[in-house]
Amino acid sequence: MMEAQLNGLEVDKIRSDFPIFGRLINGKPLAYLDNSATSQKPAQVIEAMSSYYREHNSNVHRGVHRLSIEATLAYEEAHKKTAHFINASSMEEIVFTKNTTESINLLAYSLMGLLKKGDEIVVTQMEHHSNLVPWQQAARKTGARLKFIEIGSNGELKREGIESAITKNTKIVSAIHVSNVLGTVNDVRHIGQIAHENGALFAIDAAQSVPHMPVDVGKLGCDFLAFSGHKMLGPTGIGVLFGKKDTLGSMEPFLYGGDMIREVSFEESRWNDLPWKFEAGTPNIAEAVGLGAAIDYLRGIGMDNIESYGKSLVRYAYEKLSSAGNIEIYGPPPEKRSSLISFNIKGMHAHDLAELLNAEGIAIRGGHHCSMPLMHLLGITGSARASFYLYNTREEIDRLCEAIGKAKAVFKV
Ligand code: ALA
Repeated sequence: MMEAQLNGLEVDKIRSDFPIFGRLINGKPLAYLDNSATSQKPAQVIEAMSSYYREHNSNVHRGVHRLSIEATLAYEEAHKKTAHFINASSMEEIVFTKNTTESINLLAYSLMGLLKKGDEIVVTQMEHHSNLVPWQQAARKTGARLKFIEIGSNGELKREGIESAITKNTKIVSAIHVSNVLGTVNDVRHIGQIAHENGALFAIDAAQSVPHMPVDVGKLGCDFLAFSGHKMLGPTGIGVLFGKKDTLGSMEPFLYGGDMIREVSFEESRWNDLPWKFEAGTPNIAEAVGLGAAIDYLRGIGMDNIESYGKSLVRYAYEKLSSAGNIEIYGPPPEKRSSLISFNIKGMHAHDLAELLNAEGIAIRGGHHCSMPLMHLLGITGSARASFYLYNTREEIDRLCEAIGKAKAVFKV
């Protein structure tokens, strides 16, 4: 697993860590190509969570008894692993949430106090609803204006669009790193530079990038970065908001209650240290442990290896799909995209295709991918999407293409 290249043999080894690949779907081996929606989980993650419940279960930050200390250490260790994974300076910069969506809601609520009429919030035209709807609400409630960085016909952000959208009135820029529809890898470092030159805060929706490539918050130069555990081999119910310590320190909490306070009287309260100030109530402790185990697993293979393997799969799939005929692929060429492909077969609805592929044991997603405005811009109501991860193989892509051929024959297209 530690080799520089993931070859077929090592992918076999990786696959053997994932119990779900023992399943047959409609009598066929599962080809799971819906990784942008959620990834599968290795036994190491499942075991870490099970062992936490069997041997250490207790509440955190609340007891002096042995189990509570063990649970607290495990929970804090998960923060430290996450900080290390994205090169944050300490666990104070790592807030655990439920998912990317909650992380961005936390940001939008907490930063609302910064906004007034005439201010601007800037996002891109390729946002997932999670990085659009919270900002729409923040704009509505404060009178700020929501602006968009435009997409060009190549599925990339227009370079000049970045500079024209962000102005001295911009207070917050929040951009998707990798589009969950187009696969485009955005130059978020550049967007962040322009945001900072104009005095704005810069946030990144990294839900589709952190699982697939090395992400270093220092190199990206962002103030905030949000992602989810469940797309990176971890469990559902755990998400992350990275924030620079000073910035998080100056922000208002999002949720109020237990554990986020230092002192409470009948009249008022003082907030706890970071990151606990933003983690009110009993958190998702087992899920945090599972995320820590997922990070250990990914680091064991190496994020560089995972990125280059994902690129090789997407290149292979792109070439095969483009030569299939009667197909429209959305987004940039393979060298500019992460490991996913959205497409439509002309004359066939994406849901019909997804159902026919399911009969062959192949899982893809069909629909609007929680990106309705982008669908509107592309002039479609939905697309099929195949998204790959470290356990997928070229053989599965071959099966996908064969099954698409069969579906075309059924639909006579
Ligand atoms: N954001 C996930 C997707 O694109 C759910 O499928």
